[in-house]
Amino acid sequence: MQKHPFAIGILGGIVGTLLVAVAVWLTVVYTGAYNVAASDQHTDAVRWTLDTTMRRSVASRAEGIQMPEEPSDELIAEGAGRYAESCAHCHGAPGADPAGWSRGMRPEPPHLTEAATEWSAEEIYWIVSNGIRMSGMPAFGPDHAPDEIAALTAFVSALPGLTPDDYAALTASGKPDGQAAAPRVNNWNEGSRATCPTSALA
Ligand code: HEC
Repeated sequence: MQKHPFAIGILGGIVGTLLVAVAVWLTVVYTGAYNVAASDQHTDAVRWTLDTTMRRSVASRAEGIQMPEEPSDELIAEGAGRYAESCAHCHGAPGADPAGWSRGMRPEPPHLTEAATEWSAEEIYWIVSNGIRMSGMPAFGPDHAPDEIAALTAFVSALPGLTPDDYAALTASGKPDGQAAAPRVNNWNEGSRATCPTSALA
């Protein structure tokens, strides 16, 4: 018993620290001390943790994906139509603000006209396909074919260089599944069900 008092002391310290950590964790969970309101901003520490975890996670998982270096104009146009339909109300588009309600999300969906420059095409493909847990970024992989995700990716990669006129021309020509081009995304701000793209309500 007296042989390793130092080792026993260290072990006791580790176990004690773990017990205190578990007690703090359960106290925060059960007392409601943590404010989950999306109307408040994350603290800097929480924001840094979530953002860094997300960026490192995406970078390490996107390695096996291959996107064409120079996607065709047709692929980009198809992606534009899909983007107007499924993404622009959260992420905005050239000449079109995101819907007002999306500014109440935490994290706030970034304007992809700028944020897309921070990601490789392979990373964008991974994000669109898999989504980002606990952020409101949906996974489109479960109900979109790989070539539809590739079209969205090609468009998002091209997005930072596009003007409002380019975007209008692309969305007019990119008509997913032969439907009419998606309505202007600004309609999402008008608060009327009748003006929402019906496919987004399905
Ligand atoms: C309901 C809102 C919503 C919709 C719809 C949505 N996203 Fe997102 N998206 C988010 C949020 C929120 C984030 C930020 C995630 C984070 O920072 O952890 C995000 C992040 C991203 C990112 C990473 C950008 C960055 O710097 O954080 C990409 C790329 C992206 N989305 C692409 C798309 C595409 C393409 C579509 C449509 C197919 C789409 N998103 C639809 C909410 C949305």
